[in-house]
Amino acid sequence: MTPLTSGTAGPLNGRVRVPGDKSISHRALILGSLAVGRTQIRGLLEGEDVLRTAAVMRALGATLARGAGGEWSVDGVGIGGLAEPEETLDLGNSGTGARLLMGLVAAHPITAFFTGDASLRRRPMARVIEPLSRMGARIIARDGGRLPLAVIGATSPLPIEYRLPVASAQVKSAVLLAGLGAPGATTVIEPEATRDHSERMLLHFGAAVTVAAAEGNGRRITLHGQPELRAANLVVPGDPSSAAFPMVAALLMPGSQVVIEGVGVNPLRSGLFETLREMGADLAFSNERVEGGEPVADIAVRASRLRGIEVPASRAPRMIDEYPILAVAAAFARGRTVMHGLGELRVKESDRLGAIAQGLAACGVKLAVSGDTLAVEGSDAPPAGGAAIQTQLDHRIAMAFLVLGMAARQPVRIDDGETIGTSFPGFVGLLNGLGATIAPVAR
Ligand code: S3P
Repeated sequence: MTPLTSGTAGPLNGRVRVPGDKSISHRALILGSLAVGRTQIRGLLEGEDVLRTAAVMRALGATLARGAGGEWSVDGVGIGGLAEPEETLDLGNSGTGARLLMGLVAAHPITAFFTGDASLRRRPMARVIEPLSRMGARIIARDGGRLPLAVIGATSPLPIEYRLPVASAQVKSAVLLAGLGAPGATTVIEPEATRDHSERMLLHFGAAVTVAAAEGNGRRITLHGQPELRAANLVVPGDPSSAAFPMVAALLMPGSQVVIEGVGVNPLRSGLFETLREMGADLAFSNERVEGGEPVADIAVRASRLRGIEVPASRAPRMIDEYPILAVAAAFARGRTVMHGLGELRVKESDRLGAIAQGLAACGVKLAVSGDTLAVEGSDAPPAGGAAIQTQLDHRIAMAFLVLGMAARQPVRIDDGETIGTSFPGFVGLLNGLGATIAPVAR
């Protein structure tokens, strides 16, 4: 455990680049390992979660190496070519790693055992067990569909048509990855469009994927199974979910001007940018381009006076990881911010809805949770802060409350900063380089 404290900082100034996108990094390693030939990846996130996926792909028979300049090369084994791993696959804190890799193993005639840290072992896996079982895999899990579990992959996987009961890109991706090994068309129907990095990257590697509108804001995604994936180089954009932290910090610290370069601005990840703009944030996109099939931009942020707004449930899938930092921004805004449709936050790295509510209340912010709605009363002034926050193995809770501490009246302390390394290695140095004062707590 590494307790950290974050105290009042002056304006933030500078240009930074945040680490690579976590979702895209997992997928790059996985699809690169299934392709024929060598895939070179630049900008891969070298956070704990992604390094776990790299270790698993090695255990499944792919060859992955990091070059001296930080670029990764992946020599794939071809679809159907994975080997049975000798050891238990430990995904650490990573729900994405666990769920996507269960999909991958499900369509290979091998058996693999999965486990993770205390947070991951609490998270629901039934949502992937159910469709993967329909595709012919056998999965034996702990009570409630929890890790550790064993996946006995199908010898002849079946293509299915699957309607997602929850809007989850992880479940969609697990089914599509299993569908790669099945003959014919595997279709996933999602009630609300979720991040489409898997679809984009499958196309980039040469798979046939079609996407059509379904009822409401939903989509119908069809993959033609057993393609030959061709190695294809990739550049991973900066993670918008990581950019969110210096972005909100700059908005809250009067006088700040920060540019975050090379941030992924995929429309299915951009809910926070949209929401902050509605709240009055001064965010300017420039140098917009497409890299490796993903839209990217530089984002200039200026300190702004924010106002409370209503955030509809339909936006949740496009900003699902951003509610901890949005709730912090809302605490400084003028008036009430009401966020609807937060049920999925209960099953993230922690019960995030509970962790946000407890942490904000401890920092002197008024709020109410009713069902899956969170209402934060902004006081148009810095909240008291001064609290000790339990991060519960949740990197985004840790970072959100360090940002709150920078702009609050009293410093905020978190019990453990180590978890930040799962998604944002270098977070403390990057924020301090802009003018923050985050430091280890003297023991
Ligand atoms: C992710 C999907 C989201 C998100 C997670 C990454 C992905 O989870 O919260 O951090 O890479 O597919 P759900 O699919 O559970 O919503």
